[in-house]
Amino acid sequence: MKKAFVKSYGCQMNAYDAARMADVLGAEGYAATDSVEEADVVVLNTCHIREKAAEKVFSEVGRLRVLKAERAKECLDTRIVVAGCVAQAEGSEILHRSPAVDVVVGPQSYHRLPELLAASRTKRVVDTEFPVEDKFARLPPRRSRGVTGFLTVQEGCDKFCAFCVVPYTRGAEVSRPVAAIVAEAEALVREGVREITLIGQNVNAYHGEGPHGSPASLPTLMEALAHIPGLLRLRYTTSHPNDMGEDLIQAHGSQPLLMPYLHLPVQSGSTRVLQAMNRKHTADAYSRLIERVRRVRPDIALSSDFIVGFPGESDAEFEETMRLVAEIGFASAYSFKYSPRPGTPAAERADAVPEAVKSERLARLQTLLDAQRHAFSAAMVGRVVEVLVEKAGRHPGQVAGKTPHLLAVQFDAPTSTIGTLVPVRIVGTSANSLFGEVADDAAVAA
Ligand code: SAH
Ligand code: SF4
Ligand code: F3S
Repeated sequence: MKKAFVKSYGCQMNAYDAARMADVLGAEGYAATDSVEEADVVVLNTCHIREKAAEKVFSEVGRLRVLKAERAKECLDTRIVVAGCVAQAEGSEILHRSPAVDVVVGPQSYHRLPELLAASRTKRVVDTEFPVEDKFARLPPRRSRGVTGFLTVQEGCDKFCAFCVVPYTRGAEVSRPVAAIVAEAEALVREGVREITLIGQNVNAYHGEGPHGSPASLPTLMEALAHIPGLLRLRYTTSHPNDMGEDLIQAHGSQPLLMPYLHLPVQSGSTRVLQAMNRKHTADAYSRLIERVRRVRPDIALSSDFIVGFPGESDAEFEETMRLVAEIGFASAYSFKYSPRPGTPAAERADAVPEAVKSERLARLQTLLDAQRHAFSAAMVGRVVEVLVEKAGRHPGQVAGKTPHLLAVQFDAPTSTIGTLVPVRIVGTSANSLFGEVADDAAVAA
């Protein structure tokens, strides 16, 4: 049997696309493999968001070139596919730079992978079109191998933040119809998925076609999904502060399947920097938004993305970010040094922040965010929480799962609990996980 190895970099959208490419290849008779050495097709699903992420691909392709030559000695053919956002951004440049690559395919056209692979027998091919046909409608049935799954409900971005490549690599914002999403969710649940994370670059701007032809909001979509028997939990990511509507805030109090977790990137605590970033909201507006969310769901776990050292960011402006973090308190966060990206407005600016200053700011911010993350986890000790069991744990007899606040937990229980909700008393923490023991149902805190 032919084998396919698919590796994904970057965001959840890319993870979803990678899973779908595996589905496409599966329908063509390729079995999935974790071992690149035995793969007849290797797909690298790439990310362009920061320079480091994009450059990683070329070192990986270099290694694959050697592997391809080794396999050729044994008369084995290896097709190398570069997919994802680097493919979209660089197109045929990749063929010039990397002679071993056979196919370059963008995030909107990977449903054509079988034709592209066939065509690559005679010449190297590039497909970075934004096709008119609905990619999702052309994809084979959804397969899944886990208890949790991503489901893309919205793609693309119209926001054009001054630092970001996504609007260029993913194109304009488009929402999928409710019916198509419900059908895919039902397929996932049939495969054993119990928790679905609805994903999109601006997922809270979702406005897909509803049952009566009129646009449905994200909370309306969640209501439709909540009726699927066997589905236990819903999450969504990533949201933009400007699209955080009152109905979505209220859903955190009224939608029982929606977990108390919100990833809402703010990027900076300085309104001047936010304006320069073209974020179109102030630091104060973000804080007020968080207050409204917390009024509805006081225990919500908040998460954010931060960029330090955006061009022109002064010491005082960075301190505003530190203050905002201290005031709000995050359960988790991602933080990055600003990385200039070709084609984005911020990359043209002459007032870059020196690398050493960026590093120093990032270290300080991460120290604060880490302390907040630990404090959030430590506050769980002694409480009883519902854990969705996802897999066997690190040690024999243990299983691993997540709390409603998306914290990883390990505890002793049989693997027959995988896919179920178990009440667990949290008894301790380590760097990246909580430890617990099975508790009585009645003890679960609201
Ligand atoms: N759509 C999401 C984020 C997508 S990219 C949103 O709007 O929040 C994920 C994160 O990468 C961003 O939130 C930002 O913090 C970071 N990022 C994007 N472009 C970057 C750049 N040029 N340099 C450093 N970090 C960047
Ligand atoms: Fe990028 Fe901004 Fe769009 Fe997020 S909202 S994907 S940061 S342009
Ligand atoms: Fe990266 Fe593309 Fe996602 S650039 S973060 S893989 S949308």
